[in-house]
Amino acid sequence: MKLLNIKNLSIVYKTIEGNIQAVDKVSLSIDDGEILGIVGESGCGKTTLIKGLMGLLPYNGKITEGEIYFMDKNLLSLSKEEMRQKRWNDISMITQSAMNSLNPVYSVGWQIVEAIQAHKVVSKEEAYKTVEKLFELVGIEKGRINDYPHQYSGGMKQRAIIAMALALNPKLIIADEPTTALDVVVQSQILEKINILLNNYNGSMILVTHDISVIAQTCTMIAVMYGGKIVEYGAVNQILKHPNHPYTMGLKNAFPSITGEKRQLISIPGAPPNLLNDLDGCRFKDRCPFAIEKCFVEQPKKNNVSNGFFYCHRENESEMLRDQAKKQETWLEDIVKEVSI
Ligand SMILES: Nc1ncnc2c1ncn2[C@@H]1O[C@H](COP(=O)(O)OP(=O)(O)OP(=O)(O)O)[C@@H](O)[C@H]1O
Ligand SMILES: [Mg+2]
Repeated sequence: MKLLNIKNLSIVYKTIEGNIQAVDKVSLSIDDGEILGIVGESGCGKTTLIKGLMGLLPYNGKITEGEIYFMDKNLLSLSKEEMRQKRWNDISMITQSAMNSLNPVYSVGWQIVEAIQAHKVVSKEEAYKTVEKLFELVGIEKGRINDYPHQYSGGMKQRAIIAMALALNPKLIIADEPTTALDVVVQSQILEKINILLNNYNGSMILVTHDISVIAQTCTMIAVMYGGKIVEYGAVNQILKHPNHPYTMGLKNAFPSITGEKRQLISIPGAPPNLLNDLDGCRFKDRCPFAIEKCFVEQPKKNNVSNGFFYCHRENESEMLRDQAKKQETWLEDIVKEVSI
């Protein structure tokens, strides 16, 4: 049984300018104990996908098709109250702006105690003991439990949020850009903490980030999201060594090598597509140095590979494309334009 199984999920935002197809027919699953990284540039639909599966879409966001099963139960058939119960007990979330979600008028410890008591019948003393243990785990001194959020640094607040996410021992933790708001030093401390926690935690995790190196350090599986679609999925060690989708190849170039190999960072020219428009063909076509005519008119079909899949019309040429993708001249903007005219 899959812990989480998302089937053909589409999410649309209604806006005055028209409908934004933020998530487009996404199918994705996660097994017990798996750490899945979702990576993609800003605006590719990562947060929308997560909000959709947590039942937390804003009023103008709607799931237009698809199913979401958590331990074989269809989450979309649950009432608001049933979903609220699932949220902290079974699935907990560390959001992009989690640090700011602590209430300034209550002590940090008290807020976690309250969250525990809202879902579990335990005495205040027991709940405080749990918080002490959690603080030790995430690296906050016991003596700081009764401090208020403004007495915490950004890194400490984020650790407290991680403690809160762990408080009810959920089966799945979803972390949406948990380190984005922090400076690089604190970022790597938090990531280290997350790694240690994951080694001691037998549940699963989804880690959303735009930084492929974070995924390399933390995750077992990776889903690459572009223009509302998952364009490539598979085991981290397989995909980061041998990406099959040109977008994954480009993302890999844009971040420092995990193996310490010295190479120049190359960025992908242009920006992700506007999801307001009807998108013909492959979503990456305008920025892809390898786009051919077919990419402009026909959506690529799913190519299954061992433990994963990718969507690309040039599915049999991955090895050659990987070699090309390593060269900076491949990604120069005018060359990309020439190819796409
Ligand atoms: N409430 C909303 N109303 C209308 N459009 C929205 C809303 N929230 C997000 N969008 C649009 O949906 C698309 C996907 O946004 P989303 O926030 O899911 O991307 P993301 O991958 O999480 O980006 P980031 O890395 O910046 O967090 C974008 O085009 C965005 O502008
Ligand atoms: Mg986001």
